[in-house]
Amino acid sequence: MANPPASRAIRNPKTRFNWRVSDFIRRMMVWWFELRARITGRGYYCSTLAGQEDYNITVNSDLTVSCCCQDYDGSGHIGDLRKNTFEEIYFGPWRSGFATGWRREIPIPTCVRCTIKRLPKKHRAAQTAMPYRGMLLENTVSCNVDCVGCAREGAAAIRTSKQMSLEDLGRMGDLAARLKMEQLFYLNLGEPFLSPTIAQELPLLRAKLPDCSIVVSTNGMLLNTDAKREAALSLSIIRLSLHGISDEMVGKYMLRGSFEKAYAAMKAMVDYRDARGRRQPVMEWKYLLFNWNDHPKTIRRAIELAKAANVDIIYVLSDAQSIFTGMSWRYHLGLMNHIGRTSWKGAK
Ligand SMILES: C[S@@+](CC[C@H](N)C(=O)[O-])C[C@H]1O[C@@H](n2cnc3c(N)ncnc32)[C@H](O)[C@@H]1O
Ligand code: SF4
Ligand code: SF4
Repeated sequence: MANPPASRAIRNPKTRFNWRVSDFIRRMMVWWFELRARITGRGYYCSTLAGQEDYNITVNSDLTVSCCCQDYDGSGHIGDLRKNTFEEIYFGPWRSGFATGWRREIPIPTCVRCTIKRLPKKHRAAQTAMPYRGMLLENTVSCNVDCVGCAREGAAAIRTSKQMSLEDLGRMGDLAARLKMEQLFYLNLGEPFLSPTIAQELPLLRAKLPDCSIVVSTNGMLLNTDAKREAALSLSIIRLSLHGISDEMVGKYMLRGSFEKAYAAMKAMVDYRDARGRRQPVMEWKYLLFNWNDHPKTIRRAIELAKAANVDIIYVLSDAQSIFTGMSWRYHLGLMNHIGRTSWKGAK
């Protein structure tokens, strides 16, 4: 990938206004959560670390393990698979800091918008089991675009390797198989299709995980060759992040993003799959809602475009994180309630 011109170089996301607001809100919430625990006597546990969640535990591109998918600064690192087994990490010493039992302190500020839960009254601990419902695997921490709310750069700066080798990916496939993972989210803080070995990675994972639901989320722009489309037939679901219906609209959040390229890639993937009589991967258009892409006419047009491309699902997410300046007032004032229907994914 060519370097961006200096004038458009990626800035440290933590200097962005939205991120400073987000950090401030997190600090306020930590203070409130801890005060509430002291007043009520009810502590917290983390349902991810109790093995109850499907989408959080992450193996990063350098084989470090993070407790969650929002670990932009390494505060959620719980171990390193180059030094320890997954079991040693999961039941390791870090638990004293991120305990799953009764506690009044919030381990790290990320928790307040993650899976920290209040323990039921009089409970001192939650049951802990090995995770099996799902995990994230980050093949690369690099990306071809720069989304305003994604602090990927912070994570990339602390990875000792920005790309996982094919050999390590195979070992991670074996790990997911040994843990009997029901779902593998093949993404984290990077663009999966930017990996130079993506065409080998996906069939390799499928061979190791024949019954697992393998899910990729992508900005789509690099899903652009038959070799990649053929490899993508190994996937169960492709989530294509495309937040608008024109280059201009998409580019407001996804700097250097292109509606035209992503839409063409989405359509070509569906055509490729259908031409081979396959039903998978299911193609989902994921549309983050902002105040510049939420006009009912725009949403109707997006639905028409999704139908024209034979996409299986289009869904709209109204709670994009850390983008306070882009909040969709139409959605929050109920002006969009007549469009689509509510689902666990948002409106679809
Ligand atoms: C960090 S991305 C990595 C995968 C891929 N590069 C992509 O963008 O789809 C992981 C997920 O975060 C979502 N995402 C990006 N910005 C977000 C935001 N501000 N709030 C919530 N989710 C967001 C993307 O749509 C994607 O599904
Ligand atoms: S950030 Fe906190 S709530 Fe989220 S997985 Fe880590 S310890 Fe659990
Ligand atoms: S495409 Fe994905 S990884 Fe890349 S900046 Fe956007 S959200 Fe982050």
